[in-house]
Amino acid sequence: MVPRHLAIIMDGNGRWAQNHGLNRVRGHQKGAVAVENIIRHAAARGVKILTLFAFSTENWKRPAYEVQALMTLFAGALKKESKSLIENGIRTRVIGDISRFSQSLQKAILSLEEQTANGKVMELNIAANYGGRWDILQASKKMWDKVHAGEIKPEDVNENLLKDFLTVKDDVDLLIRTGGEHRISNFLLYQSSYSEIYVSDKLWPDFGGDDLDAAIDFYAHRERRFGMTSAQIQSKDSSC
Ligand code: IPE
Ligand code: IPE
Ligand code: MG
Repeated sequence: MVPRHLAIIMDGNGRWAQNHGLNRVRGHQKGAVAVENIIRHAAARGVKILTLFAFSTENWKRPAYEVQALMTLFAGALKKESKSLIENGIRTRVIGDISRFSQSLQKAILSLEEQTANGKVMELNIAANYGGRWDILQASKKMWDKVHAGEIKPEDVNENLLKDFLTVKDDVDLLIRTGGEHRISNFLLYQSSYSEIYVSDKLWPDFGGDDLDAAIDFYAHRERRFGMTSAQIQSKDSSC
């Protein structure tokens, strides 16, 4: 089984550059090439939603030159990739607080979202200036605004309703982190409650199609119990 919603924490660009005696920015450039490849590969494997962690709310703390280089790279990638995203039916959205980006970057994001809006093959979410805590907070605020406006009854507020206000509504099936660290780093906190987690020691620029296949294969062998017992899951499977 292929995960319907695959999310990736693309980590290790800096270490990749360091290992090659290069500046960290070169690692990010190489990482952008890996992104293109993995988008194509995930779509070909039948993934329906791909959410990529590109820049966290905490990444602003990095040296200014690195943040600037990441912004330039991001703007360049949006421009360079738009044609192929449209042609390949990839509906693209940027999730995160884009108000902190330059006006021209915000315009490029909105234009790409508009141009790819009819894509039917795969949904691509690029998490930029994204934080899981921010996502839950912005969703809560939107939901409560509707409660105060009388559009939602307070007694109708529940876990599922809150999902409707999150930037990505769908639960993550498989969460991959490259670069070997076993942590979530404030990615999709609400949506990852029951994700299978796959940590790869490969640094992001080295993560290729074969590595994605290995992660998907790992996923295919997991028994997802959602709190139930193994026996319950197996009897459910046999009754299908
Ligand atoms: C991930 O690679 C890319 C971003 C966070 C933007 P890193 O830059 O974090 O790479 P390492 O962890 O320093 O190797
Ligand atoms: C997580 O990587 C964020 C992205 C991949 C964009 P970090 O490198 O920022 O995570 P920490 O700081 O090691 O937890
Ligand atoms: Mg890192």
